[in-house]
Amino acid sequence: MTERKKVTLGTLFKKVAEGEPISWLTCYDYPTAYFQEQAGIDMILVGDSLGMTMLGYDSTLPVTMDDMIRHTQAVRRGAPKAWLVGDMPYMSYQPSVETAIRSAGRFMSEAGCDSVKLEGGAEMADRVAGIVAAGIPAIGHLGLTPQSASALGGFRLQGKGALQAKKILDDAKALEQSGAFAILLELVPDRLCKLITERAENCIIMSLGSGPDAHGQLLIYHDMFGLYPKFKPRMAKVFGEAGKVILEGLQSYVSEVKDHSFPQRENYFGMPDEEYEELLQMLD
Ligand code: KIV
Repeated sequence: MTERKKVTLGTLFKKVAEGEPISWLTCYDYPTAYFQEQAGIDMILVGDSLGMTMLGYDSTLPVTMDDMIRHTQAVRRGAPKAWLVGDMPYMSYQPSVETAIRSAGRFMSEAGCDSVKLEGGAEMADRVAGIVAAGIPAIGHLGLTPQSASALGGFRLQGKGALQAKKILDDAKALEQSGAFAILLELVPDRLCKLITERAENCIIMSLGSGPDAHGQLLIYHDMFGLYPKFKPRMAKVFGEAGKVILEGLQSYVSEVKDHSFPQRENYFGMPDEEYEELLQMLD
């Protein structure tokens, strides 16, 4: 088998130029990263959504930089070739440009990331510019930005009205002008996503629930396999009912232990008779 080449910025922009959509998934652990790499995924996002999908919080807000670094390191070990994006958690970039650069730097030096992502529009343009000036590729995130869900009125479609849509368009331009090499549009109308993609000059536009006309697609891994028990967003497609398979397996295990059908002979190891006899004599 030929070894997979490292995905670089050049790889991603070549795909855009050739009209080949970019695939992107969230991932938070080593074995899943290994499988995603085997599947040939272009980009991996270690999202702060791990606060909900992996740590069981009700929002992403309690996630810390240390949580992010630990999970991102594991993902990098499983997927050395995919383009790896560290998601800047709440308050790791909002306070100041310096805070943003320091947090972004940790993703690069401690977790082997290729880039970082941060939420927000024009108001975060100076953070993006600072990170890019420090030599770190940055991705913006517009539309439904979960860290501001409270201010946005919950997890709902953004930019449905013309005024709000214009603001998102302007924010996208501001992020591009600050040096963001990509922007994620989460849960905005398909026509708005298409307009932003058509107007992007040197910026890759990615869609999460924002339609087919971006340069690529992002999905939350737990949504695509039915692994998040609390809800499934309408926009997510389920590619396999892994959660169901796991639950059925667990129920079988519990009942097999109960009725003594597990373990079977092939699930454990014996000991030679003479060794066992000698052991028993030691006990006398
Ligand atoms: O944390 C995350 O997974 C994200 C996605 C919702 C885009 O930011």
